[in-house]
Amino acid sequence: MQKIIILDFGSQTTQLIGRRVRELDTFCEIMPYNKFPKDDPSVIGVILSGSPYSVHDPEAFKVDLSQFVGRIPVLGICYGAQFISHTLGGKVEKADSREYGRANLETVDTTNPLFKGFDQHSQVWMSHGDTITAIPDGFEVIGSTKDVKNAAFWSGEKIVNCKLSNCKSIWAVQFHPEVFHTLQGTQLLRNFVVDICGSKQEWSAASFVDSTVAELKAQLGSDRVILGLSGGVDSSVAAVLLNRAIGKNLTCIFVDHGMLRKNEFTQVMDDYKVLGLNVIGVDASEKFFADLAGVSDPEQKRKIIGRDFVEVFNAEAKKITDAKWLAQGTIYPDRIESLNITGKVIKSHHNVGGLPKEMHLQLCEPLKWLFKDEVRRVGRQLGMPEHLITRHPFPGPGLAVRILGDITPEKVRILQDADDIYVRGLRDYKVKLSGEEARKVLAAGIPADMKDGEIEVSLYDQIWQAGAILLSTVRSVGVMGDERTYEHPVALRAVTSTDAMTADWAHLPYDFMAKVSNEIINKVRGVNRVCYDISSKPPATIEWE
Ligand code: XMP
Repeated sequence: MQKIIILDFGSQTTQLIGRRVRELDTFCEIMPYNKFPKDDPSVIGVILSGSPYSVHDPEAFKVDLSQFVGRIPVLGICYGAQFISHTLGGKVEKADSREYGRANLETVDTTNPLFKGFDQHSQVWMSHGDTITAIPDGFEVIGSTKDVKNAAFWSGEKIVNCKLSNCKSIWAVQFHPEVFHTLQGTQLLRNFVVDICGSKQEWSAASFVDSTVAELKAQLGSDRVILGLSGGVDSSVAAVLLNRAIGKNLTCIFVDHGMLRKNEFTQVMDDYKVLGLNVIGVDASEKFFADLAGVSDPEQKRKIIGRDFVEVFNAEAKKITDAKWLAQGTIYPDRIESLNITGKVIKSHHNVGGLPKEMHLQLCEPLKWLFKDEVRRVGRQLGMPEHLITRHPFPGPGLAVRILGDITPEKVRILQDADDIYVRGLRDYKVKLSGEEARKVLAAGIPADMKDGEIEVSLYDQIWQAGAILLSTVRSVGVMGDERTYEHPVALRAVTSTDAMTADWAHLPYDFMAKVSNEIINKVRGVNRVCYDISSKPPATIEWE
């Protein structure tokens, strides 16, 4: 399979470049800047990402360009562009003022293959402290903004020792084509990936399902496999994919720790049965509640839940004595080795926590190359119901990290009721969208029918994640009928995001909030006040604990 390599110099938007390339039906891998896979003939192009560094910093990340220049096309983005310029004889200097935000291309060479189909004055997004004041000899400027003369440049085909017949040049842009605010960014990346690198655009949900099912059959043969289900999208899609490959040799275990959403355990178990999965459901809520009694420290709660989960899961797994594999719904962003400012890997492949060693299980991760939106596409390809596919992310410790203070079954009941009203409300409230907003929703794969240039989607589908939080350590005074109440507030949280690394609070309509607040206070005993959380991440986090 053809692939694009994205060399990561530590920018926050590196993953976004990867997602954009995948949207062009082209496989790509994000590698640390110093790990270019030299001898891989399937690599058809390289993209150098941005970086928090200046090229002049002594500790700036450097790559040996000769590994790929002249063999395959190269695109430098922001720091990538500055690094190319700096290394090949151009000049990079501190900008008079930080160039940040929207700009428009004043001149753009639309005869250059990188800018094919571009509009004059196309909007781009800048974010850099240094600027390229001189490009290397032999290079040519192909795009400028008012403030940035060398906003885009290329080597021409003459500068490199081109051994193959198609173009093997270097392109560099100081703006970020991967971000939404560069309005023709996708066009630019398509020009690079498809026209310049020659991608055959063979990466699709259908091709992924076909090749993965075949690979799983070959890898697993008649071995027995165990998989832990959580009700979430990733583990559910992994299960259905494995079920297609090995059928009844897959045993799934779904542990109910008592802190799932209202009725979630039974609903999800029913869904799994309809999908033909072989699932063991374990109701271990009593054990979890007993072990959590009186504990209010968030980290302590997480530890107890993690430990109990492993214990309950292992007790079930051990009963499957002939199991050879443990399958997990690990996805690509969980595995990308992200760099921190020291160039050290800060996140690498996680380990399986505490599985019994004597079981000697091997790890099977069929979704390990997919981004979240791709997992959803694969789920649709597999014919899974839409409500399972579009389910919001939900933390492993469940409502335990959404109840401030200690956990009791009664508090969980209160929160489940409030949360249920909120989430059902989000599903039921439909919004009409058109233009760019509609395009964004459709590009995310949410199925919606376009009618008279408009689509109708629920608030739920426009949001990354939502939930209610019970402030059980706080009481406030209220009045209901003739009676004074002294009860708990519930906070509502809803965020938009693409990867949970950063998030913005969702601007929910006032009439929706009024309705939900009213319904919660009237129907949920123990709650007399509803607040809406208007904090973004950073500096806040998505969860409250
Ligand atoms: P934060 O709160 O860090 O959350 O902004 C980012 C994403 O991670 C989820 N999350 C968790 N998931 N175990 C999990 O499996 C946890 O302990 C946990 N804490 C946060 C959160 O829901 C959001 O999607």
